[in-house]
Amino acid sequence: MDVAAALAGPEGLAKADPAPSCTLVIFGAAGDLTKRLLMPSLYNMQQAGLLQEGFTVVGVDRVARDDNGYRSDLTETIQGFASDKGSESALDGLNADAWGWVRDRLFYQAGDFEDTATYDALKQRVSGNCVFYLAVAARFFAPVLTHLADSGLMTEADDAFRRVVVEKPFGHDLASAKALNALILAKMDESQVFRIDHFLGKETVQNLMALRFSNGIFEPLWNRNYIDHVQITAAETVGVERRAKFYEPTGALRDMVPNHMFQLLAMTAMEPPNSFDADAVRAEKAKVLQAVKPLDTGRVARDLVRGQYGPGTSGGKDTQGYRQEPDVAADSTTETYIAMRLNIDNFRWAGVPFYVRTGKRMAVRRTEIVVHFKQAPHAMFRSTPVEALTPNAMVIHVQPSEGITLNFSAKVPGPTLQLGRVAMDFRYADYFNTPSNTGYETLLYDVMIGDATFFQRADNVEAGWAVVQPMLDEIEAGHSEVQPYAAGTSGPAAADALLERDGRHWLALSA
Ligand code: BG6
Repeated sequence: MDVAAALAGPEGLAKADPAPSCTLVIFGAAGDLTKRLLMPSLYNMQQAGLLQEGFTVVGVDRVARDDNGYRSDLTETIQGFASDKGSESALDGLNADAWGWVRDRLFYQAGDFEDTATYDALKQRVSGNCVFYLAVAARFFAPVLTHLADSGLMTEADDAFRRVVVEKPFGHDLASAKALNALILAKMDESQVFRIDHFLGKETVQNLMALRFSNGIFEPLWNRNYIDHVQITAAETVGVERRAKFYEPTGALRDMVPNHMFQLLAMTAMEPPNSFDADAVRAEKAKVLQAVKPLDTGRVARDLVRGQYGPGTSGGKDTQGYRQEPDVAADSTTETYIAMRLNIDNFRWAGVPFYVRTGKRMAVRRTEIVVHFKQAPHAMFRSTPVEALTPNAMVIHVQPSEGITLNFSAKVPGPTLQLGRVAMDFRYADYFNTPSNTGYETLLYDVMIGDATFFQRADNVEAGWAVVQPMLDEIEAGHSEVQPYAAGTSGPAAADALLERDGRHWLALSA
């Protein structure tokens, strides 16, 4: 039997009704995010039948364009992505009809994000259901949100919804995240706000809830009695690229940890919510993040490792070090790598370390969560050639390939008792005919249908920053040196030492 076909149905996808008609107003319509991710996502959504007739897009940006100019610009970019096999924009060629459908619904509004006239003009253009997407630099969040609310564009009338999507960075530290939340909640209702974290659009991340809560075999083991420790890795091969102006004052800690890494941690460690209701799920995520023990002064020096890539090789090519990249200070101490050891102070996880690491210009591009189980007692193997047992590990592959591997020991065939390491491997691609996607498709769809499950609530964001703030304070005080590592490696040696001290090792980052 073709298991894949039996499981997946003819299209290999779970069916969903099209989202209600709405206007998607994108602030930052000429920017990178819109071109690279939002437009390919809308195109993929159209192909999947998730958009319907009345759907339109109004792009807002400062550059002068008319509707036709905007359509031509985006057509050119998307054609470029479609013909570039290495592009991250997840397009398998370009279906002219599907793109034509989206293109014909694109409109453009030139305007300054801080000028009331822009919002007056928008009011003339839009009616009914609207989603306002802030694909703009963080300094514009407050002005755009304030103008949207003060102009009445966020007022919901006659059953029409008005929602706003806020991209990261959601604050620069705890105080600024709180200030932004306070501003938002003074101007609109929490239910209208969708704080997006694109890691939550990744299929395997969403699958974590299904894996943990729909299978009788895993959840009973998912605690301190059976789990030794957890490793969460997001390794990238790219460097800072053209983003140094943003990255220099940001660094890997702010860029990746309170948001993406903590979302992975929360999905792995949260208690079972009492339903799939958005608030039930987000309440559990907030609780587990609030239980992460902050690293106090002594522990930052011990349990936090910061690294910065130097020259090396990436993808077989020589690459320059971070300090030689354009717009980076020659003596920059911004970290491009961070590793930490965290403890979750609750009943389920007491004594189980969570090791988290993320970095740029590493040996491979790989995001994964590794759950290391406790070792079985060796006692009965004493009189056999087996000297040590290897603990079981479950690897949840988030990207680039999506799936789950369970490693365990098996007897090597033959007359003596010897053990070998084997794996049960589930790959999405083997079972489901999943079309290419950017990860934004499901999130955009969720905004349109009003499902906030995979979006961060104000308390989730603040709980993440509350864990990171003492680390930022210590770095600011000069108590955390940045360690060099060669591009194309697994990061600084101190990060290996962080685990070795506990008698553990990172899962190797080999190709
Ligand atoms: C972004 C960060 O939020 O996530 C980038 O700002 C990082 O620095 C990116 O490269 C990683 O996302 P993905 O989906 O490519 O793993």
